[in-house]
Amino acid sequence: MIKKQNDIFKLDTKNTSYIFRVMNTGHLEQLYYGAFVSDNDGYDALYEKSEVEYANSVLYCKDSGVVSLEQLCLEISGVGRGDFREAAVDLTLDDGSYVTDFVFNSYKIYDGKREINGLPSSFGDCTTLEIQLEDTVIDAKLTLFYHVFEACDIITRHMTVTAGGKTLTLTRAMSAMMDFPRGNFKLMTLCGTWADEMQKNEIELKRGVFCNDSKLGVSSNQHNPFMLLSDKNASEKSGDCYGFNLVYSGNHCEMAEVSAQNRTRVLLGINPFHFSHRLNSGESFETPEAVMTFSSCGSEGVSHAFHKFIREHIVRGAWAKKQRPVLVNSWEANYFDFDEEKLVAQAKAAAALGAELYVLDDGWFGKRNDDKSSLGDWFVNLEKLPNGLDGLQRRFAEIPIKLGLWIEPEMVSVDSELYKLHPDWAVAVRGSHFTMGRNQLLLDITRGEVRDYIVDVITNALKTSRASYIKWDMNRNIAEVFWLCEEHNSDFYHRYTLGFYDLMRRITGAFPDVLFEGCSAGGNRFDLGVLCYMPQIWLSDNTDAHRRAALQQNASMCYPQSVMGAHVSACPCHQTGRTTSLETRFAVACSGVLGYELDVASLDNAQREAVSQQIRFYKENANLLQFGTIYPLSFEEFDGAQGWIIVAPNKEKAIVMLYQSTFVANRRSLVMRLEGLAKDKKYRFESIDKRETHTATGDLLCRAGVRLNQRVMLENGEEKVRVMGDYSALLYEITQMQP
Ligand code: DGJ
Repeated sequence: MIKKQNDIFKLDTKNTSYIFRVMNTGHLEQLYYGAFVSDNDGYDALYEKSEVEYANSVLYCKDSGVVSLEQLCLEISGVGRGDFREAAVDLTLDDGSYVTDFVFNSYKIYDGKREINGLPSSFGDCTTLEIQLEDTVIDAKLTLFYHVFEACDIITRHMTVTAGGKTLTLTRAMSAMMDFPRGNFKLMTLCGTWADEMQKNEIELKRGVFCNDSKLGVSSNQHNPFMLLSDKNASEKSGDCYGFNLVYSGNHCEMAEVSAQNRTRVLLGINPFHFSHRLNSGESFETPEAVMTFSSCGSEGVSHAFHKFIREHIVRGAWAKKQRPVLVNSWEANYFDFDEEKLVAQAKAAAALGAELYVLDDGWFGKRNDDKSSLGDWFVNLEKLPNGLDGLQRRFAEIPIKLGLWIEPEMVSVDSELYKLHPDWAVAVRGSHFTMGRNQLLLDITRGEVRDYIVDVITNALKTSRASYIKWDMNRNIAEVFWLCEEHNSDFYHRYTLGFYDLMRRITGAFPDVLFEGCSAGGNRFDLGVLCYMPQIWLSDNTDAHRRAALQQNASMCYPQSVMGAHVSACPCHQTGRTTSLETRFAVACSGVLGYELDVASLDNAQREAVSQQIRFYKENANLLQFGTIYPLSFEEFDGAQGWIIVAPNKEKAIVMLYQSTFVANRRSLVMRLEGLAKDKKYRFESIDKRETHTATGDLLCRAGVRLNQRVMLENGEEKVRVMGDYSALLYEITQMQP
C-alpha cells in the first residue's frame, strides 16, 4: 500500500513501513524504515530537528532556514550542495561542472510496474510510486521508482536519469540509497573465491565507508551483491535486520557509510568503477532494480522475505514453481574423456537409479579434448559422438532418459574455427598481449553481430540435440576491455551485462520449456539478474559435503533451495580430497536441486542400492525440499554441529539435516530444537536410519527440543545410538500424525 498525505509518502508492506517527506526545499527527507507503524495525522516527530547552525557546515540556502544536507537522512543525494557523504548520482556537464541539486517536481502512484529497459527485473502484483525530481540549472531529471510487494515485505527501487537540454556524462547512478539516523550496525556480506563461495563476512560498521563490490565484470564469487545490515545485538532469530540485493549480474557496488555524525548511508547499484555513460539531450539511463526488506525477527525474517520474493517475483517461466528433475552430470565422471557408448552406458545406469536427466557437460563440440580449444565452435565432435547430438538423443529416448547439454556461449578459444574467422570479435586490447583465463577469451557481446551469431549457433545446437536442460557456463572474468567500445562510452562492463541479458532473453525465450541452469566456474555469477532468466544456478564446484553444508546454509541467507544446484560427487572429493560417506553427501545435497556428479555406471551393488533409495526419497519429498520454508537450527558450540529444517507450507511434513564436523568422545546428548512446526499438532520425529524415533507435539519439539541419541564414531552393534563419525550428516523426517 502506498499513501500520500500532505508532504508525506508512506509505503506499507504486511510487516514494514517506509516513510519519507518532501521538505520545503524540495529535497526528500527519509524518515523511517522498519517495523510496521500505523498511520498518523502528522509525522513531525520523525523530522530531523535543526534550528542552530553549526560553525563550518554548509547551509543549503539562507531562505530555507538551517538546512544542511549533510545533517539529514535523504532519499537521494547528488554532489556539491553540502552533502559530503557518498552520492547516489554523479555527473559532469561538458563545461566541467558537476554540481547537482535534484528537488521534488511531481509523483504518480499506480498498480503494477513496467519493465526496465534491457535489464531484468521483478514481475507480478505490486504498487508503484514514481517520483520526479528536477534540477533546473543543469536541466536534468531523476525519476525514482518504488515498487511495493506487500505480501513479501519487499520494496524495490531504481531510478532513471534523463538529460534535458544539455549533454551530460553520468559517472555514478546508484539504484537505491537508504539513510538511517544512527550508526551501531553490523554488516554481513557473502564473500569467497572459486570452490569457496558464499563465506560469511561479518563486520561492525565504524565511521568511514565500507564497500562490497565486484570489478570482475560479473557479480562474482568474491562479493555477492546480497548484504545484511543488522542491529548490533540482532541474531538469526531476533532483532532488527535489513536485507539488500541487486537484480544485476555485472560489476556492482554496495556501500555502507557511517558519517562523522554517526548516521548510516547504504548505497547499492552499478559499480562506478570505469562506469561512464554519455547522455545526449532527451536521452535516459535506467539503473538496475535494488531489492530491500526489513525484519524485526532477525536475519531469518530477511531470508524468508527474500526466498518468497525470489520464488514469486524473480524466477519465472515454465519451471518457476515446477519440481526440478534429478540429474546426473558427466563432468567429474568423464571430464573430456568420453564417447557415445560411455555416455549411453552412464545414462542407462542413471535411469536405472531413478534419475530423470543426464547432462552432457563440457567437451562435446569442436575438437575439445581439454580446456585449451574449441570454445565458439558449437558443432558436434564427430569423433566422440559419430551420430551427432541427434543420434545421442535417439539413444537416450530409448532408455528413456532426458538429455541435458553444457554450453559456454560468451567465450572463444584462440584455437578455434571461430577465432580464425573473427579474431576481432574477442575482447582484447589490440597491440597488447592477451590476458588469458582458463585459456580463453571473451566474445565482445556488446556488439549486435556477435550476439546474432551466438544466438544462431547455440539455437541450432539446442534444436539438434532436443535437450531438455541447458547448463550455461562462464569461466573467466573480464580484463582488458576499453578500446573496443563502439561509442567509447567507457561503460563496457555495463554494456557487456546488457549483451548477456539480450543473449539470455533470446536463447531462453526460444526454448520456453527447457530448464536452464546458470553457472560461472561454480557460483561466480549467482545473482537475481541470472535468476530472472534461469530458474537455478550451480552454486559451487566444491561438492565436498563438509564445505557444502556451510556454503549452502550461507547462501540460503538470501537464496531459496529451489535455485541452488547441489550434487553428490565421488570421493575423495575432487576439490578438497576429503572423504565423506554417500549418506552424508546426499543429506547435504538433497537440500537443493539434487544431482549426481560421478560415474554412476561404475557403482557397486551396495552403492547402487543406496543411490536408488536416495533418489526415491528425494522424489517423494522434492516439492518440500525445493520449495519448503528453511530455518537454520541453532546448536550450542558442540562438535561443530550445524543444521537446518525445511518445513512444508501446510506444516504436515518437515525434513531436518544435521551435520557434525568432528567427533569428540564422551559427549552428552545433543539438544536439537526444531522450528516452524504447528505448535499444537503431534509429530513423529524419526531419523532416516530409523534408530531414533519420538512422538511429540510441535511446541515440545520446537521449545524444548529433542535430546538426540548418543553419538558414536563407528557402528558398534547398538541399536539406539547415532553413528556419526567426522564430517557426517544425518537426515530426520518429521511427520504430522493424524489426530
Ligand atoms: C566449470 C563448471 O563449474 C563445472 O561444473 C564444469 O561445467 C566445467 N566448468 C566445465 O568446463
